[in-house]
Amino acid sequence: MRKVYEYPKSRAAFERACKLIPSGIYGHQGPAEGCYVPVEAFPLYSSKAQGSYLWDLDGNKFIDYMCAYGPNVLGYNDPDVDEAAAKQRRISDCTTLPNPVMIDFADLLVETVACADWAFFAKNGNDVTTCAVMTARAYTHRKKIVFFKGYYHGISPWTQKIDYAGVLEEDVANNIYVTWNDFDELQEAFEQNKGEIAAIIAQPYMHGNFADNELPKEAEGQKALRRHGDRAYNRRRAGRVQAGYGRLRPLLRL
Ligand SMILES: Cc1ncc(COP(=O)(O)O)c(C=O)c1O
Repeated sequence: MRKVYEYPKSRAAFERACKLIPSGIYGHQGPAEGCYVPVEAFPLYSSKAQGSYLWDLDGNKFIDYMCAYGPNVLGYNDPDVDEAAAKQRRISDCTTLPNPVMIDFADLLVETVACADWAFFAKNGNDVTTCAVMTARAYTHRKKIVFFKGYYHGISPWTQKIDYAGVLEEDVANNIYVTWNDFDELQEAFEQNKGEIAAIIAQPYMHGNFADNELPKEAEGQKALRRHGDRAYNRRRAGRVQAGYGRLRPLLRL
């Protein structure tokens, strides 16, 4: 019979981490969030990775279908990527002035991504969604943002629910929540908040926590979303701020 993996070293590392890091591993990758059920059946720390594989602390080998949560599209330790990064590091690493390689990269992105007129760099998704919301508010001079229930847009206070520790009413006072793919509810939200909505923020498809993924309804629904987004946007057309459904696509999360 095939031996089931065991994780004593992962458990020991976790116990050590719990004394030093709140929850040991924070976010949904940590056992405290309840994503690993039962917790004993999951590895908690990796020791190395190569190509599409990663190994945990106990030497168990896995295919990493999660691709490091997205960025690792070419596999771990890809020789071309590593060589390019090492080459740039030899020239300069983290410097006071930006290197023109940033402009080359922006050029490539604007050229490659059909909806992008500009490229703006941030260090993570949360910063990008925050920047997108700030841009929409600055551009429209409005406060309210429409969210789809079950969303995840990062860890900033404005993305949180009112019952989360440390979140103030003021942080989420301008959030409007509607149901994914319910375009009547969306319409109603716009009618009830006429002239106040800065943007709709949406994932390309619904991937809420502890829920099945849900694709956007095609045709009419998509058009309704676009129509509402465009309406919010068109009132203040001054420059071209391409922003997704709520014209909130100036900042693509790559
Ligand atoms: C739709 C969406 N927006 C924002 C974020 C936040 O990104 P980050 O964890 O890089 O801050 C995520 C992360 O999974 C996400 O899925």
